[in-house]
Amino acid sequence: MNSALLLAFATLAQAAPDSGAVLYQSWCKPCHGADGRGISSTAARLQVPAANLAECKTSTAEPEARWIGIVTRGAAEYGLSLDMPAFGDATTADQIRMVVRYIRSLCGEPGWPPGDLNFPRPFLVEKAFPENEWVLTEEGRSQTLLYEHRLGKRFQMEAEARSDGVTTVLKYNFWYSLERRALATLGIEATPPLGRAARWAVEPFLAFGANPGRSLVVQGQITSAWEETQGVTAFSYRLGVGKQVGRVAPMLEAGWTVPRGRERTLSLYPQLWVQLSRLGHVAASLGAELPTVGPEPRHPRLIAFALWDFGDAPLLRGW
Ligand code: HEC
Repeated sequence: MNSALLLAFATLAQAAPDSGAVLYQSWCKPCHGADGRGISSTAARLQVPAANLAECKTSTAEPEARWIGIVTRGAAEYGLSLDMPAFGDATTADQIRMVVRYIRSLCGEPGWPPGDLNFPRPFLVEKAFPENEWVLTEEGRSQTLLYEHRLGKRFQMEAEARSDGVTTVLKYNFWYSLERRALATLGIEATPPLGRAARWAVEPFLAFGANPGRSLVVQGQITSAWEETQGVTAFSYRLGVGKQVGRVAPMLEAGWTVPRGRERTLSLYPQLWVQLSRLGHVAASLGAELPTVGPEPRHPRLIAFALWDFGDAPLLRGW
């Protein structure tokens, strides 16, 4: 055997006991099973079944940091079962990162946008990440209830009910890159002539999110509004910047609307997003619309929303 080969074997032998797969088999297999799909909770004597770690829609929906946290500090710290132990005291941060990378690779199917690109929801910009969520928004004195439902890897449909009508949206995440920490989504919003709307209105849009260098989160959207018999009636440009610090994410958005033949408007939206549940599946945001440019009179309005990510956990778990 030549010396390069010997060296390669030696390195492999050193690396192997520490590799994510090996650590998984010795620490996690008794409950999560050899393939990550979990074993029967009676066999493992667990009160709740151990999560299926190999399911793509579970392992890709939220940022890696959440699972690193659960494995380090135990699931009870996130309002989940005491049965999922904390490994932080017995292991190094590197070992935990390796085992989490390994379980996140069990999905094995390409094409699921990674949860590290699932940024906090702003008021104005459509999220580019496909979600399973209920969002209740209060804007001035009107309420809207939004239901978002993920379809497969990258599609999402949503339906929004307001006191003056309904709107439906279909969107598709056509591009993402974990290296560039960015994603982009195309969508189309349709409002049928119900309630106060007299004609069909259709709004195709492009939405994106980016977190360059893991510092600020930038989210944006370009929309063109089209109305039955009127054609294109407006373009709007929305841009938001924010940063998540622990359980809060202060953000500032700007919305610029350019209607055909009418005055342009610009509003600013300072807001504070707050993670309410320990797991992070329930959050709320509070802020305001501050009209800056445009026809008078336009008054500042308070805006608030509360959301539940029902794809993540039942409403009453995770507290
Ligand atoms: C003693 C049994 C047991 C062992 C050992 C165990 N787990 Fe768990 N794990 C569970 C249970 C039970 C849950 C579900 C908790 C809940 O939903 O309340 C869980 C949940 C999880 C979750 C959260 C999944 C989600 O849906 O967000 C992750 C991640 C996880 N385990 C990773 C690991 C890793 C990695 C190891 C090994 C280092 C490990 N577990 C070892 C029992 C165990």
